[in-house]
Amino acid sequence: MQQNLIPLPDGIVPAAVIARTEKRWLLAMVSMLGFMMAIVVVSGIVSASHPPSNVETVDPTTLHLSGEFTEANLGAIREPDGSLTVRMVADQYAFVPDCVEIAAGTPITFRLTSIDVVHGFLLPATNVNTMVVPGFVAEVRTRFDRPGIYRMPCNEFCGPGHHGMWARVSVVPKEKFASSAPAGRASCAQQ
Ligand code: CUA
Repeated sequence: MQQNLIPLPDGIVPAAVIARTEKRWLLAMVSMLGFMMAIVVVSGIVSASHPPSNVETVDPTTLHLSGEFTEANLGAIREPDGSLTVRMVADQYAFVPDCVEIAAGTPITFRLTSIDVVHGFLLPATNVNTMVVPGFVAEVRTRFDRPGIYRMPCNEFCGPGHHGMWARVSVVPKEKFASSAPAGRASCAQQ
């Protein structure tokens, strides 16, 4: 093939050379694609596909009966180290509870799970943005330095009522929180 090449003006690459180069690049692309697909398949099988959070499973059919996510356990609760843990359940089409009161300047751990389908949990302007998948506990940690009402829309399409699914996080100053909720869970159902 090489001997068939006729001299071409400067800058013009012979068609045979182009074809050969293209074939090599095609091969490189196909092997890269194959390599990446292998990573996806192997990691999916080895570590079982799971949402990008801590891998903690929970039985969505018995959430209301026992364990961490029973109704009496939902909302914000003060931990011995002074931080707050907020537990919520997502369902079509609401978060339970639909409003939680927490303290500013305090480490917050949100723990959420879903009772039915995949929902999303997003607090705009914070690092909180996670999927809430039935069968798994989604855990995110954050803190709010400024008091205020933070709207919490479901950001994962979950059905015809998706657009109306949202909750609020009411961040109050530390002192106010301590006095309004000396013990147990705090909620902001009144507003
Ligand atoms: Cu729940 Cu969208």
